Amino acid sequence: TQSQTTQLVIFGGTGDLALRKLQPALYKLQREGFLENVCAIIALGRAHSSDEDYRQIVKTKMQEFLPAHFWDEQHWQAFAQKLHFVSLDVNSLKDYHRLSDAVHHHSSATTVFYLATHSTLYTSICRNLNSIGVVNAQSRVVLEKPLGHDLASCTEINHEVLQVFPEKNIFRIDHYLGKETVQNLLVLRFGNALFGPLWNSQYIDNIQITVAEDIGVEGRGDFYAKTGALRDMVQNHLLQLLCLVAMEPPANLRADTIRDEKVKVLQALRPITATNVKAKTVRGQYIAGAVKSAAVAAFLDETGFEDSENTETFVALQADVHNWRWEGTPFYLRTGKRLSRRFSEIIVELKKHPFSLFEGDPNDLPNKLVIRLQPEENITLYKVNKKPGLSRQLKLEQVELNLDADLHDELQAHEAYERLLLDVLEGDQTLFMRRDEVEACWAWVDGIISAWQEAGIKPKTYAAGSMGPNAALALPEKTGRSWHE
Ligand code: BG6
Repeated sequence: TQSQTTQLVIFGGTGDLALRKLQPALYKLQREGFLENVCAIIALGRAHSSDEDYRQIVKTKMQEFLPAHFWDEQHWQAFAQKLHFVSLDVNSLKDYHRLSDAVHHHSSATTVFYLATHSTLYTSICRNLNSIGVVNAQSRVVLEKPLGHDLASCTEINHEVLQVFPEKNIFRIDHYLGKETVQNLLVLRFGNALFGPLWNSQYIDNIQITVAEDIGVEGRGDFYAKTGALRDMVQNHLLQLLCLVAMEPPANLRADTIRDEKVKVLQALRPITATNVKAKTVRGQYIAGAVKSAAVAAFLDETGFEDSENTETFVALQADVHNWRWEGTPFYLRTGKRLSRRFSEIIVELKKHPFSLFEGDPNDLPNKLVIRLQPEENITLYKVNKKPGLSRQLKLEQVELNLDADLHDELQAHEAYERLLLDVLEGDQTLFMRRDEVEACWAWVDGIISAWQEAGIKPKTYAAGSMGPNAALALPEKTGRSWHE
């Protein structure tokens, strides 16, 4: 529960994440009455802005990014009163006295430190916070992804943060876990008797997870050139989705029980090595093309950074979960920038029945469960129907069965960050990653990166506006399967 007074301190307060995601999410929480116990939101940044200047910046951005129907002057005024700005260089200990002056030191106050900065700064921030004495047993820290650049740097950061905050107060964010449909996945799997018995390699032929984006690197070229799609998306978002689809039923809904099950999935991932990396992965990088009829420059022209030739903006891979439940069912993962359109979905493709009465009919297709995360949020079952009519020959057709009332309601829609910020304020870690989880993700991803290096695998080109390199389309075809389109 929230204590009497909670204060939120945001490092990187003028950054893209804070202005585009965090502040709008906080404003919406305020609007719905969830911030009553939050007495102050203190944004930190290097600029020399006043509280008033900062409120104006937030307001302008919010009006730009938030759908108009969420805007309400009265709620904004109440929210703006809580916003403060403190000028601080994160690496300069002497600046921290200004932060110390701004926060309440009362023992009943809970302080949440949100580190919306590059993870290379986390160590220094935590040490400085510790030395000015603003961290107590209740303080929480929120760490944004990517946590480090590889297993070694991630372990190092975790180690340093743990010198200042205990694990139970560390909230490692993966905003995909805050998406409505992602949470609904657990209910789908464990709240419906229909799917449980089928959820294994005996009945499921393959599982596909696609996170396709039509945007490019959006002014983050510098970061992205050093990072690439595998580290930016697969290490966190796609592996988290894989865990939730593949994990065993947890014994209860406690944060650690669920996270234990996720870790077991990660431990079961078969390593990708130099010998099989060519068969199991495809790296891509976009060249000039057109997305939604608008001309788009090549990644290399867009970023202009020297070390970007070898950065993948697309990755497709086959992951094998080597355990009792999943042996024999491949998991195909793919994600990329500047693809034809933005959509994220999980496809659970069932095996065909062993004998077909309707052999020869091209519409005798396997059942598929399509879990759509965005842009719409819904769950659809593909089933085969008899085409109505008097024709002597039985004709089949594939129909889509909508399994939910459309979850997406424009007027109510909550962003992932609202759910997650609320959970941080309430101290619920269920939707956050535990240390061993993030490290297990890195260990597997590091293996792929060294396999790429060892086998000399370079990104293959794809035209912006396509669905990635041809080799990616061919990845499931090796075993007679195909991506769901
Ligand atoms: C971020 C990545 O974690 O997720 C970005 O760093 C990516 O590169 C973004 O664009 C996608 O998030 P969403 O919620 O828009 O799918």
